[in-house]
Amino acid sequence: MQTNLRGRDVIDLQEWTKDELGTLLDVAFTLKRDRALGLAHPYLRDKVLAMLFFFSSTRTRTSFEAGMAQLGGHAQFIESRTTQIAHGDTAKEIGEILGRYNDGIAIRNVDWGVGNSYIRDVAEASRVPVLNMQCDIYHPHQALADLMTIIERFGDPRGKTATVSWACAASYQKPISVPQSLVLLLPRFGMNVRLVHPPEFALMDDIVEQARQNARKTGASFEVMDDFEQGISGTDVVYAKSWGALLKTTDEAEGAKAISKYGSWITDSRRMAMAKDDAIFMHPLPADRGVEVTDEVIDGPQSAVYDQAENRLHGQKAVMALTMS
Ligand code: CP
Repeated sequence: MQTNLRGRDVIDLQEWTKDELGTLLDVAFTLKRDRALGLAHPYLRDKVLAMLFFFSSTRTRTSFEAGMAQLGGHAQFIESRTTQIAHGDTAKEIGEILGRYNDGIAIRNVDWGVGNSYIRDVAEASRVPVLNMQCDIYHPHQALADLMTIIERFGDPRGKTATVSWACAASYQKPISVPQSLVLLLPRFGMNVRLVHPPEFALMDDIVEQARQNARKTGASFEVMDDFEQGISGTDVVYAKSWGALLKTTDEAEGAKAISKYGSWITDSRRMAMAKDDAIFMHPLPADRGVEVTDEVIDGPQSAVYDQAENRLHGQKAVMALTMS
């Protein structure tokens, strides 16, 4: 077990070894059990986390904030538009200054072509760990919670198949960070991955290549497919969510036009029945109900979405306790 994790940033889980991720999972499950037993675990008493948001959030904000309170510390919620960032505070200044007030800095910035480099610039200037609450490329804490959920449902994930599929969405061009973090992480734990999407919705080439290499190292399979039903057939995990055609266009109208071509890409009961009998449906939320997934599936017995949301809390508490103590 690797325990020397104090001061580490969590920006991309690819930068963490499998042993280090094993420590995170182990601590996360321990904290989950301790909370169920009512055992206090104030590992971060008097510590403060700055949470800087450039984009809206339900789960990420509330789980980080609740997690810091449960660890005996405090989280300060900072909405970028209420700061002086628009009037000139640079990433370097944010890293330097928030790093001097706080024991950790968490940031959500999903702006395409900006978010990840902004977070890395803050991290470069910060004396305390920087945690990525979702950028344009990665959503590491979502992927960690999803892996916890898969382990809870299936035990050892080796040899299980996860279908990470695009699904239709009516609302907006959603970031590609969730599918990218998933296809990188799951093969490292021996899971076969099927990445399924229409041609317009490709992920970044270097991420797909890294995912392929991760699979090769563990002997897992990695396939890119363009047929939704073929991708679901016989799988263990149906992780179907929308994302934008961001590698093709950042224009919302053009993106919406591409999305509208694939209105049939919805997970319904007929499609869930194509997966294994004990398959689970996963989604990070929020979902476009009736467009990405039917109510029957997301509210049905195969849905793991509330466990995923819960595990955000426990996974992030493990991250904070190990990096900020
Ligand atoms: N899954 C997720 O990150 O949810 P929020 O956008 O509500 O934080």
